[in-house]
Amino acid sequence: MESRSHATAAVVAVVFFLSAMALPAAAAIVEHTFVVSQMNMTHLCKETLVTVVNGQLPGPTIEVTEGDSVTVHVINKSPYNITIHWHGVKQRLNCWADGVPMITQCPILPNHNFTYRFNVTGQEGTLWWHAHVPCLRATLHGALIIRPRHGPSSYPFPKPDREIPIIIGEWWQVDLAVVDWNLRYYLNDYDPSASTINGKLGDLYNCSGVMEDGYVLDMEPGKTYLLRVINAALFSEYYFKIAGHKFTVVATGANYVSPYTTDVIPIAPGETVDVLVVADAAPGRYYMVALPNQSPKPEGQSPLIITRGMVQYSNNHSSYRDKEGAGGPSGDVPMAPEMPDQHDRMTSFYFHGNLTSLHHSQRLPPAHVDEHLFITLGLGSVCRRGQSCTRSGSQESIVVATMNNFTFQLPAATTPLLEEHYYNSSMMDTLQELPDAPPRVFNFTDHALIPEGPKEAQLEPTSKAALARRFRYGAAVELVFQSTAVMQSESNPMHLHGHDMFVLAQGLGNYDPARDVARYNLVDPPVLNTVQVPSLGWAAVRFVADNPGIWYMHCHYEFHLSMGMTALFIVEDGTTVDTSLPPPPSNFPTCGNDNNLVPDEFYLQTRKSEVSHINGV
Ligand code: C2O
Repeated sequence: MESRSHATAAVVAVVFFLSAMALPAAAAIVEHTFVVSQMNMTHLCKETLVTVVNGQLPGPTIEVTEGDSVTVHVINKSPYNITIHWHGVKQRLNCWADGVPMITQCPILPNHNFTYRFNVTGQEGTLWWHAHVPCLRATLHGALIIRPRHGPSSYPFPKPDREIPIIIGEWWQVDLAVVDWNLRYYLNDYDPSASTINGKLGDLYNCSGVMEDGYVLDMEPGKTYLLRVINAALFSEYYFKIAGHKFTVVATGANYVSPYTTDVIPIAPGETVDVLVVADAAPGRYYMVALPNQSPKPEGQSPLIITRGMVQYSNNHSSYRDKEGAGGPSGDVPMAPEMPDQHDRMTSFYFHGNLTSLHHSQRLPPAHVDEHLFITLGLGSVCRRGQSCTRSGSQESIVVATMNNFTFQLPAATTPLLEEHYYNSSMMDTLQELPDAPPRVFNFTDHALIPEGPKEAQLEPTSKAALARRFRYGAAVELVFQSTAVMQSESNPMHLHGHDMFVLAQGLGNYDPARDVARYNLVDPPVLNTVQVPSLGWAAVRFVADNPGIWYMHCHYEFHLSMGMTALFIVEDGTTVDTSLPPPPSNFPTCGNDNNLVPDEFYLQTRKSEVSHINGV
């Protein structure tokens, strides 16, 4: 990973320093070229065709200083329509660069190019980039690291000796475009074959007795390491541990938090967590392990895919053998961490509930709220054809993922919605407003709703629509996300583009304003772009809609995203140039005839054997 990203930096990244003299460093333009193409990779004795950037998995790391400008030339040599999203970058007055296909831009068609330009201002820490094309982000992603303008000595924590990205991901041995297609029509369940740390599967996986390579981090005794942990996996929240070591959490989502000590990092898809690790254990070798968690039965269970790498004390590797029993791991067997159970959701709940922001005095959440939304997250079903059909597991209906009983459908347009919005087209009137609350109130977290059946069927009058909500510029918005038990009890990592959210409170069971508003942290809430809404629980957030444009708000579990758990937040212009969306960039791509990832026809004609039997599609 390290050497790979340095090599990449040498080959593709050209940094033009406008001035190298001044301290603090003057703003620079950091330039990269991303060539998206397909290549074969072999793991577990099987060669798989994967779509990657610059032949790397994970893709190149973008390293910048706060306030820099970033230019990324994307050259699409893959057969897919591609966009790249800069996850967590606020894109102030720059919604055009947010990278959501058919919302902010036409996708970059095969054999086409597009250059993204954006600034990273007012954010420090770890973010990441990924394709915003359903499922393809499993192999099209990388770290985006923003360092302080005044240099590493201005970190609000002891200056680390080294900084290491740790990207948790998954290895898929199926065509990811097929996975997306199946999720959209709720046909087949797919599972990843393995999980990965920095692209390596690790020695818990072998094929024909040959172990997979694992990620190895060499540590020097006494030194401090800043691990920038990113969950790029499609499907699971992970627990991450290093045997014999503790973490001090210092930032999440490129916002500093009050230092928090823990021996386990729960990290949901879309989240980033920066932690300090001090090499203060007895010299030796220690496993680092990432284990996905999942809801217990009666829900369907995915095979448990655990990955592990290793921390190894470099200059003591030979001597520790002689010191067997001297406090370090004995013999040649590295020490393994004790992991939480795969069905443990409370470790995540407490971790997320314990975070508080560091620089709270400068950034308080809005005390007064203009708009309140209560949003239920769950599953539902819509008829494959027509208005009426048998639901609840019947072949006539498709299971979809919902917010307040709506599932998202892209508006039928040949122009990205942001252009329609910018030019005030009447198309915008056809959007469905995301209601303030679900159509009915029931016991949202009733366990009896989990297995598909009559109880759940009564509650799911679900519709498909281009779901959107308008906010006037500067509106203070409160969102309460309520996870429900309708057909499943997953947690929901809810991600908002273009804005950070103050996370005021979370709880288990049903949200009750009479009880829960009093628990809001209005003093030092953590500030996140992705909030993990607990399984069978809720989370309350506030944000200020002060970035004009159209912003995706969605669950970062890819199956929920492909199944429609998305809404658009439209932030209107303010009254000045500084508060209004500028015109589209001049080099903006134009749309093709089919702007989906891959057209349905493509599957029906060429991939019949790969997709399961389709009833009525
Ligand atoms: Cu990380 Cu809309 O995504």
